Order: sequence, then structure tokens, then C-alpha cells
Amino acid sequence: MSEVILSGIRATGRLHFGNFIGAVRHFVDFQKPGNQCFYFIADLHTLTTLKDPNELRKNLREIVKDYLAAGLNPENCTIYAQSSIPELSELSLLLSMLQPLGELQNIPTFKELVRRNPDQVSLGLITYPVLMAADILGPRTTLVPVGSDQVPNVELARDLARRFNDRFGDSTFVIPRMMERMDRVPGLDGEKMGKSDAANAIGMDTPPEQIRRLYLSKGQTDPLRIKRTDPGDPHNRCRGIYPIHSLVTEGEFKSLSIARKCIAAEISCVECKNLVADSVIRILAPFQERRRELADKDAYVTEILHEGGKKARVAIAETTSILRDKMGIVVY
Ligand code: TRP
Ligand code: SF4
Repeated sequence: MSEVILSGIRATGRLHFGNFIGAVRHFVDFQKPGNQCFYFIADLHTLTTLKDPNELRKNLREIVKDYLAAGLNPENCTIYAQSSIPELSELSLLLSMLQPLGELQNIPTFKELVRRNPDQVSLGLITYPVLMAADILGPRTTLVPVGSDQVPNVELARDLARRFNDRFGDSTFVIPRMMERMDRVPGLDGEKMGKSDAANAIGMDTPPEQIRRLYLSKGQTDPLRIKRTDPGDPHNRCRGIYPIHSLVTEGEFKSLSIARKCIAAEISCVECKNLVADSVIRILAPFQERRRELADKDAYVTEILHEGGKKARVAIAETTSILRDKMGIVVY
């Protein structure tokens, strides 16, 4: 079945290994004939938390290079900056008329941000999910791949689409499906990689020797496995190493061969960490090479964003015009 697939990433920093394994490598796989893929940098959403304009400008372009090095191909997908599509802001405003305020106040990510910074609750922060609904509904997305933290936001976009259809005509929106298959990738300490702590992340450009050093010195193993002869519990207690093996070590997901050796105390944690480092290094090698070639290709990045923006804008402007019309707004 052909799908319209869409995902956005905030421009808070470079991609890390967790983004790559958990999400971006799936984005690469979605690029096949019949599918239409929209991958954008949510720079407007970034403004809710990032205050340095230079950093925002820089991050956005670095992420495009990371995307390209990871295997996104502008021939097969549309890469753009959210802010290059002014219609998205208009769409967000139109959709906001159908959005109860109370629901926005109940979104877990919003509540968490309010709890952490009660004096920094902007209007932009509370309408964040409505802009996200515009991102999703604008190109008439059919499938949104997301991590678990984004599920309530995508649910809200689906509700908004349903509400619009109920009020203004059933056939306006196809209700996008959500694909919660993005993997949770633990960082060195076993918490989600890069979430609130950049120090637990493996960067996409981290040199091989340093990847090995990081895993050996900081990788969280089973804390109850103290001696080499103690049996380990890879699935429940080893939070920083084993889950990575099952994601990236060839064959491990099916064969459980490392898990079995751990349980039987036939492998040491040092050996096991070295194996994990081998896998991560092997996966990153082609990325790192392509990324080096892109380092000074700034004109190319500009061109991709420009062309992608034009293409996405056509699709999103069409939706915006349909909504305006259905809601009774006339452009004179
Ligand atoms: N809110 C998402 C995040 O923080 C980024 C995002 C913005 C997004 N718009 C989107 C993701 C639309 C999927 C679809 O990760
Ligand atoms: Fe974790 Fe590997 Fe040590 Fe087992 S052997 S506890 S899986 S690091």
C-alpha cells in the first residue's frame, strides 16, 4: 500500500546514535516507490525551548547533513524546514479554533515542562500539539512513525482531524495512522539516549576508539553481576548494554546467543561491552564517511531545503485553502 509518511525533528542539536537506530534508519527504509515521505526540521517547535538564534540556524543545517549521511535521499523524500511553509502557521491557527484548551493542558509532555519551569509557560508551548497537527494534516499524511513520548500529540492530531470532519465534512481528512514502532534506545546509563542528558549519548561523529572507551567505562551492566562467575540478567537488569545488542548486533535478536552466554556466565561484561562497541562502530562507519564528505557542502544543503520547501508547500497550501474555504474564510 502506498503511504504518505511524515516525521519531524526539533533542531535542539545534532542527531545521535539513538535517533539513528530508533528512528532515522526506519525513515530510510520508508523511501521506496509508491511511498511519499516528508521529513522536516521543526524549527518553530524548537523555539519553545531553544533561545539562541545562531544555534538554531546551525543545528537545522547540521541535521540536514546528518539525514543525508544517514541515507535519506532527496530524490525519494522531501526534506524541508517547517518555517519555510508559512501556510503551516495559518493551518495551525485554523485548527486551533476546534481545539479544547483543557485537553492541551492535560498532555503529559506539557505538564512535565510546566512542572520543571512553571514561570516559562508560553502560549507557543501550550499550542505546540496544534502546530504539530498542522504539520501532520498539512501534507495529508497517512502514517506517522513516532516514539512513545509523542503518542499523545499524534492522538491529538487524529482527534482534530476527526473533529474537523464531523463539523465540516467527512471527506476532508484521512485520519492518519500512528506507527509506534520506533525503538527506545538506551544511552550508556540505561536511560533513554539523549533525552535529558547528552552525556549518556553516543554522537554520530564519535570516533571508534572513543565509542569503545565510552562503553567500557560508562556502559551500565547488570549491577548484581559482580564477579565474572555470577550469572547475569541481560533482559531486566543490564540496562545500558544488552538492549543495544538486541538492536544492533547481527543475529542477536533472533538467536539470543549473547543473552544465553550472559545467563550462563560464559562471557565477561568487558568482552560483552567490546562486542557492543564493535557493532556500533561497524554501523556508524559508512555514516561517518559520508558525513565527512558533506561537511563543506553548504550550498547543497540550501538547495535541498529550498526544493523540499517548495514541494511541501504545494501540498500544504492546498490543504490550507480547502480548510479556509470550508470554514468560511475568503481571501479577497
Ligand atoms: N514534537 C516532535 C518531537 O519533539 C517533533 C515534531 C514536530 C513532529 N512536528 C511533528 C514529529 C510531526 C512527528 C510529526 O520529537
Ligand atoms: Fe550485560 Fe553483557 Fe554483562 Fe550480561 S555480560 S550483564 S549482557 S554487559
